[in-house]
Amino acid sequence: MVAPKVKTQNLLSRGSALAEAGRLKEAANTFRKATKVDPTCTEAHFNLATILSETGHSCEAIGAWEKVIALSPDILGAHRAFGETLLDYEIPKFEAGSAFKDTGPLNTAIADYRHAIETIPVLRTCHSNIGEIYLNTGKLEEAEKAFTDAAALPENLEDAFSDVGATLNHPGNLKAATAIYQEAMAMAPDYDGDEISEASYLSTNLTFTEHEILLPDGFEVMMEWERPIMERSAEIITVNGGDVLNVGFGMAIIDTAIQQSTLDTHTIIEAHPQVVARAEEWAKDKKGVRIVPSRWQEALKRIGSFDGIYFDTLMPPMIPFMRETPKLLKPGGIFTFFQMMIQFENIEAMAQTGLSFALERMPFEEVSENRYYRLMEKDEQGRFTAPLLIYKK
Ligand SMILES: C[S@@+](CC[C@H](N)C(=O)[O-])C[C@H]1O[C@@H](n2cnc3c(N)ncnc32)[C@H](O)[C@@H]1O
Repeated sequence: MVAPKVKTQNLLSRGSALAEAGRLKEAANTFRKATKVDPTCTEAHFNLATILSETGHSCEAIGAWEKVIALSPDILGAHRAFGETLLDYEIPKFEAGSAFKDTGPLNTAIADYRHAIETIPVLRTCHSNIGEIYLNTGKLEEAEKAFTDAAALPENLEDAFSDVGATLNHPGNLKAATAIYQEAMAMAPDYDGDEISEASYLSTNLTFTEHEILLPDGFEVMMEWERPIMERSAEIITVNGGDVLNVGFGMAIIDTAIQQSTLDTHTIIEAHPQVVARAEEWAKDKKGVRIVPSRWQEALKRIGSFDGIYFDTLMPPMIPFMRETPKLLKPGGIFTFFQMMIQFENIEAMAQTGLSFALERMPFEEVSENRYYRLMEKDEQGRFTAPLLIYKK
């Protein structure tokens, strides 16, 4: 009888040969066998996960990547590949009747991923401690290796998520996330994130031009170039007809687009007094429109439920609104929102709602000069894209 270790090694070699020959299905089966023979073999899980990701078997790949990370949380490539696999949940274009993904597996995967990230500082300390022991016992070569291993682990991955807005394209890959951040900063040095508070914004005097809404310091509240995103988002949230809610009136772009559909009611929540006045003027000759002149945080208590919801207030907080969406949507109701980049925190918050989801990356042909645009993601053809995360109850 062949010893399990030898059997695993044989399976790994055979799987690699099959993979090299392009026989990916058989290679996956062989690696799967290896994981059964030795469930603690990281290499077997890693190879299986890689093939499953490459062949588009995202659901099973997530399980395999989770195993890799649980067995060897210091393999950074596994974190990155795992994140990329999560993105493979996307469907190319949302249409009425599109298949949505169940967020259950994504939710579990995100929780495990967070756990893995949190393990990294512990691992770094372990490597450093091992290095200290080797150093004290004069084993300099081993000490150097342990310190190098410790240094290879990222310092502040969590910061990379929250500050950099690292996208799900790059989780676990601090280098790539930092590169995005530095590139964005170089292109848009005047961008200072969400530093303006909601309270100060709501009492600020706004300037309305033909193409934008500006704060006194030139900070852009809403810009004409966002029109294609707004028009596509309006199509998405009106697929059910019925009752539609938009939070944030801005330049009336999305609300004008929403009016192209036949609806029962069209509710708009807007908090800034100058914008409220414009919304009320705009609504005079529109059908079924109700303007709710308050912050959404107060308005939600008495607002009812909807077949379609859009959220774009520019100001944080956004995640508390996301958490309300299961209650605000009618069965089959659709929710989407504006964001420049896919942000891990948003995906995470929405995964926890249990709503099913789809992702559409909307490309832009035209680029206009402004700082937000330059912060957006690009697709493989180098076009800017708007990520539309679409949720369904
Ligand atoms: C970026 S604009 C929305 C643009 C809009 N989607 C359009 O198509 O023109 C953001 C809007 O949200 C409003 N807003 C900000 N905070 C809000 C809050 N807490 N509740 C309701 N509206 C808010 C702002 O006054 C502003 O009009």
